[in-house]
Amino acid sequence: MNRLSAQSPVLDVHLTPDHAERALREDARAGLTASPKELPPKYFYDARGSELFERITALPEYYPTRTERALLEESVAAIAEASGADTIVELGSGSSAKTRLLLDAFRPTLRRYVPQDVSEAALRGALDALAAEYPDLELHGVVGDFTKDLGFLPERGTRLIAFLGGTIGNLRPAERAAFLAHVRSVLRPGEQLLLGTGLVIDEPTLVAAYDDAEGVTAEFNRNVLHVLNRALGADFDPDAFAHVALWDAENSWIEMRLRAERAMRVRVAELDLEVDFAEGEELRTEISAKFEPETVRAMLTDAGFDLVRWWADEDRRFALSLATAV
Ligand code: SAH
Ligand code: TRP
Repeated sequence: MNRLSAQSPVLDVHLTPDHAERALREDARAGLTASPKELPPKYFYDARGSELFERITALPEYYPTRTERALLEESVAAIAEASGADTIVELGSGSSAKTRLLLDAFRPTLRRYVPQDVSEAALRGALDALAAEYPDLELHGVVGDFTKDLGFLPERGTRLIAFLGGTIGNLRPAERAAFLAHVRSVLRPGEQLLLGTGLVIDEPTLVAAYDDAEGVTAEFNRNVLHVLNRALGADFDPDAFAHVALWDAENSWIEMRLRAERAMRVRVAELDLEVDFAEGEELRTEISAKFEPETVRAMLTDAGFDLVRWWADEDRRFALSLATAV
């Protein structure tokens, strides 16, 4: 392969296409036969899904990305100074767009960057661009599911794990606690976690961020049906599903659903499964939990971290937490 960079990035595929397809089959069968019907969110992110997500990050309604970027601009120098990490690991790294702020601030001590994502397409795109921009940095991408396997973490050096974008809010409370405990268990005392979390704000702003006027989020949500059509030979008519985003105040999360606009029977050929939708029936696709500052602190403490620094924007829409493994 021809590369222009000084060092070629390594890409480890921990989640092989075979394995991913088996997981998709199991999850699709379980979710489509459950009541209410549901699908796990990691299946949004094929190449098209990752592209649609990048478009979401630039939408006027989607405040999380630009707010978190501003918080990183404000905080990276202090984070780098306090940390001295030589290895940055990022979970759910996507395009690694904001991460460049960290890579730049850590430049004096940084030796390697280990982005991890379930989307091989997004990861390859990010690695190719980073290799050209950071020729001296060791780049080691990992395709995998961060809820299942963190065994890829490099052992050597001092590590900082970044988990940005508010992605922790896409996990349900029990999964979230298990995930943070797992992250803590792979760190040594003194190593750090940088966590981005959406905060609870007014409902109209929250809902608009997940239901934009241009309909990009709606298309992103429906993408999971395109994925099932392609990967499992299903015959969903994505246009027959309306995008629903609602604020669930009790659970403190935005919930995304796909609502069948008419009664229909969908065939999932490779599962030998027929699924009936009633008119108006909703398929649950994603939650995005928003937090209070105290709940962020509590979940970090419960997992064995000490919250050492906290940055939030003026409007208290989003927060960055720097936490140290106790
Ligand atoms: N960190 C980026 C992207 C956030 S979107 C940002 O802040 O803009 C969530 C990202 O997590 C996507 O890139 C998606 O592919 C990835 N992702 C979702 N579920 C995952 C899982 N279970 N394991 C690994 N990556 C996952
Ligand atoms: N981590 C992002 C978030 O919760 C993912 C996301 C943004 C998303 N917009 C979405 C997921 C729309 C599903 C549908 O903010």
